Amino acid sequence: MTKGAAASVLLLSVLVSSGTLAQPASGHAENDEGIRVFKSANCVGCHKWTGSGGGGYGGAAANLRQTALTRDQIIETIRCGRPGAGMPYFERDAYANGECYGLKKADLPSGQMPPEPDHYLRPKEIDAVADYVLTHFKGKGEPTFAECRAFFGTGTRVCDTYQKGSGTGPTATAQSGHAHMKVEAAGDANASGVSRDTEPNDLREFRVGMRVADLPATGYRDFTCTDAPERTLSGWSEYGKCPLGPAGFHSVSSRYDDSTNQLARINEDARGTKIAGQPVLVALLIGDDARLDGLRIETDPQARLYAYKKAFLFGQQVKARYGQEGWVCTNAEPSADEQPVGGVFVKEHCEKTTPTRRLVLDRQLFRHAGEDLKKFTDGTQLTILARATP
Ligand code: HEC
Repeated sequence: MTKGAAASVLLLSVLVSSGTLAQPASGHAENDEGIRVFKSANCVGCHKWTGSGGGGYGGAAANLRQTALTRDQIIETIRCGRPGAGMPYFERDAYANGECYGLKKADLPSGQMPPEPDHYLRPKEIDAVADYVLTHFKGKGEPTFAECRAFFGTGTRVCDTYQKGSGTGPTATAQSGHAHMKVEAAGDANASGVSRDTEPNDLREFRVGMRVADLPATGYRDFTCTDAPERTLSGWSEYGKCPLGPAGFHSVSSRYDDSTNQLARINEDARGTKIAGQPVLVALLIGDDARLDGLRIETDPQARLYAYKKAFLFGQQVKARYGQEGWVCTNAEPSADEQPVGGVFVKEHCEKTTPTRRLVLDRQLFRHAGEDLKKFTDGTQLTILARATP
């Protein structure tokens, strides 16, 4: 009994002192606030202290070390959560006024409303925890002993499993510092590329008007004709094997090859191709003059979890990239064999012209009558074309 009491007093003092010890490791006040929120809002419960998430903690929480999201998108995810997924929304009025993905609570089909949090966060707390995600998780490799110590302090043995093989404190910290700088540098390089050129790239290394010969030679795989998918190609240069569409170009599909280009993955958020961390399919529209006449980007139907919510995120990103203003949209009525999914029917067609581009954004969410309840048409396509000279 006395022994037990002594042990718990000891345990308590260990916890208290580890709390204090953790502070110098995490540095300035901003970080302390970030880690505090990460713990108190129970981000740690789902994403784990490593940010790696995964199953076993109430669903498949995203791996924040591999996130492709920008700071703004991370903040949005925390404020709004993810419709149709296990990520709670932390801003009290998130779905009151349509500030999240343009949706109100009543717009969301049943079961699609993100979970409520244990408690709501104030904007400052959301910023702080978003910065914590950026500085401690995004772009980081395997969790290290030093990171574990910084999180739990020195008074516990939970980090022992990370000790073997992983670097000592200072080295590991220096390494993660570098990784972070790399991300920044990549962003800068990209930004300067944009301002140097007359026209920014539309997507990754693609720019409408460029020559086929200048298309990147690596980083893409599974080349096929968009309109005749059974025809496989060795690369973009074989575009001529694809049928010429009514609009006057050959459409070649390919898949982004995540495995080959680590840096491109880091770069990606600056270029906005992975939407909320999910892959998209890119088709290049190539004219007989061997130039890129346009790009068509669509949500990847093979990517699981690519549901309703992602279509909205995709639309959001498109509008963030090309401006919120000036879109002209029409909504089609369901045809005889089309039905809503979970009370929602979307068949939207939007267009916008900029001085140099014509943008076409289509979104669908519906089911064909008689189709299996789990099957439905759910997608978003963006077509970027050069603006026709009048
Ligand atoms: C109840 C479990 C749970 C809690 C609590 C939780 N998350 Fe999540 N989080 C998830 C799940 C599940 C996803 C993946 C959602 C999806 O599939 O789109 C996710 C996704 C995310 C993403 C998006 C990552 C990406 O690349 O798409 C971020 C950022 C994030 N969470 C941060 C946080 C932060 C910060 C907190 C605390 C304020 C938090 N989460 C609390 C479950 C949770």
